[in-house]
Amino acid sequence: MMLRDKVAVIYGAGGDVGGAVARAFSRDGARLFLAGRRRATVDAVAKDIVSAGGSAEAAEVDALDAQAVDRHLQSVIDKAGRVDIVFNAVGIPGTKILGVPLIELGLEQFSLPITTYATSYFLIARMAARRMVANKSGVIMTATTQHSRMGLPLSGGYGPAMAAEEALTRVLSAELAPQGIRVVGLRPQAMPETGTLKEAFEARAKVSGMTWEQFQVSLASRNHARRLMTLSEMANVAVFMASDKASGMTGTTVNLTMGSLDD
Ligand SMILES: NC(=O)c1ccc[n+]([C@@H]2O[C@H](COP(=O)([O-])OP(=O)(O)OC[C@H]3O[C@@H](n4cnc5c(N)ncnc54)[C@H](OP(=O)(O)O)[C@@H]3O)[C@@H](O)[C@H]2O)c1
Repeated sequence: MMLRDKVAVIYGAGGDVGGAVARAFSRDGARLFLAGRRRATVDAVAKDIVSAGGSAEAAEVDALDAQAVDRHLQSVIDKAGRVDIVFNAVGIPGTKILGVPLIELGLEQFSLPITTYATSYFLIARMAARRMVANKSGVIMTATTQHSRMGLPLSGGYGPAMAAEEALTRVLSAELAPQGIRVVGLRPQAMPETGTLKEAFEARAKVSGMTWEQFQVSLASRNHARRLMTLSEMANVAVFMASDKASGMTGTTVNLTMGSLDD
């Protein structure tokens, strides 16, 4: 029970990463407030958690809308008295951003991931930090991918978006850690259980001619373990990083690439 009685807000909680982190946080004792753009997917995760004996409330919150994020966080404070952890698991479909060579890519498609990922993370972090400073404690978290540090073809503005998030993690920490707030990211290896990876495959399938199985083998061949990651492996690390046991970690992105990327 590493997160017993911690109040956690997860954005993009209806997605694969957000849902897995929410379930893992709940198993470790956190009280959850789940937010996402479409209410139905967030409701489904909350329902699962509650039927397993946990505490979760769902809300429709657009993480790109500063006022909506602010109102929702205030409602969390009103109900729970504080917010201890926020986790940004917002993501946009790969079909909108992947699969087009840069020389053919339009500016709008290039900018979309950069604007979406950096803005949602910034707004969530800023609004949460304003509440956390009062308690001189809190943890702000996000998820990125190895595109932040690798030149992977046909990924458009996704790499720059991931790099922007990781840079923001460092800057947020430099300003907030003196006030007791840790800021940490997770950079997981691709997870085949997720719709995101299936979309990444589909975006490249026509060009590469690979099957789904060949695609996974080719991704795994770049890491030491020669396999991809499970959602539960990622979520277990998220629990630890959110807990007080990780009190020495801030301003960093945990390298969960299983050896794809050297530190
Ligand atoms: N999947 C992987 O293998 C993997 C690996 C490493 C890192 N990551 C990172 O993890 C994050 C989440 O990925 P995922 O695979 O869980 O994606 P996902 O399943 O598509 O989930 C993303 C969630 O974000 C929500 N969302 C989108 N725009 C939003 C907004 N403006 N406000 C609130 N919620 C919004 C989506 O809701 P709607 O469906 O209603 O739009 C969806 O529930 C991404 O940053 C991704 O890069 C994923």
